Amino acid sequence: MISATSFCGVEFGNPLILASGVWGSAASSLARAVENGAGGVTVKSLSLAPRAGHPNPTMVGTKTYFLNAVGLSNPGIEAGKEELRRYKELAAAPLIGSIFAGTADEFAQLAAAVSVSPIDLIELDLSCPNVGREFGEPFAYSAAAIGAITRQVKSATRVPVSVKLSPNAWNIAGLAAAAEAAGADAITAVNTVSGMAINVRARSPVLHNKQGGVSGPALFPLALKCVYDIYERVRIPIIGTGGVTTGEDALAMIMAGATLVGIGSAVYYRGAEVFKKIRAEMEGIMAEEGIKTLDEIRGAAHRACP
Ligand SMILES: Cc1cc2nc3c(=O)[nH]c(=O)nc-3n(C[C@H](O)[C@H](O)[C@H](O)COP(=O)(O)O)c2cc1C
Repeated sequence: MISATSFCGVEFGNPLILASGVWGSAASSLARAVENGAGGVTVKSLSLAPRAGHPNPTMVGTKTYFLNAVGLSNPGIEAGKEELRRYKELAAAPLIGSIFAGTADEFAQLAAAVSVSPIDLIELDLSCPNVGREFGEPFAYSAAAIGAITRQVKSATRVPVSVKLSPNAWNIAGLAAAAEAAGADAITAVNTVSGMAINVRARSPVLHNKQGGVSGPALFPLALKCVYDIYERVRIPIIGTGGVTTGEDALAMIMAGATLVGIGSAVYYRGAEVFKKIRAEMEGIMAEEGIKTLDEIRGAAHRACP
């Protein structure tokens, strides 16, 4: 019942894809997501130079949310490209190359560099909330920055480009429209939302970085509303990401307007087989509700009134 999904001209075996960062950038872990049912994968954001990321502790998980400040640790574009090449030897599912930089020029350089890899889509991580001390506020808060970076990247590559936005921005739909006007082919919504955890016994923040990005179930209703609002404003397709943990969540994302659905923290909550589990749950609900295809329900929440 869930069939292949076409996105920016790329054929995904199913709409459930691994979100950036959760399983790093190693070819073998990305391929593991595909073995477990992912229709495509996103590599952890790659920067020009290798990055060590923040000191530990960088992550804390609870029943309702996951909080991380990994700090964009990655092996850098040259080593990363080798992993992307190896991934294509291990798996056939489409590969999304996520990139991160501090300036529009660097984003364009990275886009050109990653485009010689066998990637199907480029994702611009403009929205990491955890590296503010180094890079200032995320580009994803500013229509002007989103527009400038998107335009420069589009002139540096022929690979379709998705712009990843932040739920911290107050006007995410307007910012998605700025990306679309600058030539973006798609929107990824959303990255983590800023948050923190405090260890009461130690009287101190849990993460070394003090603040981090909230993902997992607590992010879901925020992400859903972001996708819903963006779908009303733009015509380009959306990767709906944020807190999707069950088949019901994934169907809600599609009804809000998503074409692909990103799965990140749910791998911590439900194990590596989460992609297969979510797909089976989606198909169960679709059978009960007489839904034959996902196209039939995409954006359905915009047409209905409770
Ligand atoms: C440990 C961890 C690392 C992440 N690293 C990245 C990253 O490198 N680039 C990026 O764009 N998003 C990164 N994200 C954000 C996810 O791709 C996703 O947008 C977010 O976690 C919300 O989805 P989820 O609730 O399904 O995890 C990371 C998330 C987590 C939990």
